[in-house]
Amino acid sequence: MNQKIAVLDFGSQYTQVIARRIRECSVYSEIMPFNTKASVLKKQGVCGVILSGGPASVLSKGSPRPDPKVFELGVPVLGICYGLQLMGKMLGGTVVSSKQREYGLGKLSFTSSDSDLLKGIDSPIQVWNSHGDRIAKLPEGFKAIGTTENSEYALIENKKRKFYGMQFHPEVAHTPRGMEIIKNFLYNICGCTGDWTMSDYVEKAVEDIRKTVGKEKVILGLSGGVDSSVAAALIHKAIGDQLTCVFVDNGLLRKDERRKVEELFKNNFKIKMKTVRAEKLFLGRLKGVKDPERKRKIIGKTFIEVFDKAVKSIGKVDFLAQGTLYPDVIESVPIAGNPASLIKSHHNVGGLPKRMKLKLLEPLRELFKDEVRALGKELGLSKEVLWRHPFPGPGLGVRVVGEVKKSYCDVLREADAILMEEMYASGLYYSLWQAFAVFVPVKTVGVMGDERTYDNVIALRIVESQDAMTADWAHIPHDILGKISNRIINEVKGVNRVVLDISSKPPATIEWE
Ligand code: XMP
Repeated sequence: MNQKIAVLDFGSQYTQVIARRIRECSVYSEIMPFNTKASVLKKQGVCGVILSGGPASVLSKGSPRPDPKVFELGVPVLGICYGLQLMGKMLGGTVVSSKQREYGLGKLSFTSSDSDLLKGIDSPIQVWNSHGDRIAKLPEGFKAIGTTENSEYALIENKKRKFYGMQFHPEVAHTPRGMEIIKNFLYNICGCTGDWTMSDYVEKAVEDIRKTVGKEKVILGLSGGVDSSVAAALIHKAIGDQLTCVFVDNGLLRKDERRKVEELFKNNFKIKMKTVRAEKLFLGRLKGVKDPERKRKIIGKTFIEVFDKAVKSIGKVDFLAQGTLYPDVIESVPIAGNPASLIKSHHNVGGLPKRMKLKLLEPLRELFKDEVRALGKELGLSKEVLWRHPFPGPGLGVRVVGEVKKSYCDVLREADAILMEEMYASGLYYSLWQAFAVFVPVKTVGVMGDERTYDNVIALRIVESQDAMTADWAHIPHDILGKISNRIINEVKGVNRVVLDISSKPPATIEWE
């Protein structure tokens, strides 16, 4: 059995990030409710406990507390932020509300040179603070090993009992040496060996899925994107034919997309899969519609209808599986003025489970994108699938500007396929956030051979980005652009002009609609 660290969750927005950092150290961790009984932790043989941060104040009545016996388990305990205040308060020290609230960057100076927690790190270090309370009097047996401008006890230890507390967040990128502190805690103090691997993760996830699902049936809407593909492979490994994937061909997919998805999941992975061919229905409903938002709504609503019907035709189903990742979980919490939450709402089929009275199965909910890719690799998915560029739910529906027609989609598919081929051939594909073609229904004059042409425009949208919140147009070598343009004009009937979109986001968006 793997060594395990318990992260008791007091509601910090960073709890999942702590768990992720621990995974990065190749140590298994589990996030548990803050009030998990010490006896449960003991039974599970945890080798260390982390008390997370949280929004409450230990000075408020009814603020969340761990089982006091957690401090008697004989295993190391690390309190972060709220977790530190808890240690201070529960072990006999004094916590006060600080006049000087500390938020943002700070400087931590070490006041001890022999702490196992700080091995290999030189003082001072930059830290990220986010707290209002502070410890005024240390509990017995503790000493300060680091201070900040406003806090004498920003980092404390009880070496004998292996208790540590810190007022800052070691798990965030703004504490650049934080990862080393976490590593020291895990390796030097808890005695973790760091031998936990992604294949152990798969084993545990499979076990959990089996336990949750039992003998019931699961459906999953497969899009061919990274998240739903990895979720499908993982769930299939766990429950085989109890899983059925539904793939909706809405007529707005890229060239050969349906064939590729069927080949991979149906033929290769042998997953039960139902393909619904609904091109006519979608395009029929989009007839004459030019407004981007209306197009999105129609596509979204039609998808739900088609999916719903497909599920009913399968028979009794109990779970709806989704490839929700941890960043989706944060982003889908609506925050005023945060466009990310809006972006996600477009493709979220969040309304589905409620309508269909299904239980949700989200096995990737705790993972970050790069971890999902590592998991997918472990499950045998190819680089092409795992590093696929994002493709919007409404597909070519938002890449054909204005009214969507089948003939436009067909032209766009061919042009887009050429762009993809050249992106792969040049090796640029994997360094880009997205590359795609846009159909611009503007006729311009051209000449081919001795003949005058009057045809449409294809725009190339090729961008670099970290998270799609901001993006820059990619500086693709001219000869590659030239080749793409030449090929599209020569090989795709209906196009006589190719243009390059050189707008950054903001103010432009990545998609044209
Ligand atoms: P924009 O165009 O807003 O796009 O700059 C940002 C990122 O989100 C993707 N996108 C979508 N993804 N459903 C999706 O699943 C959508 O409706 C949708 N709209 C935009 C876009 O491709 C880019 O990566």
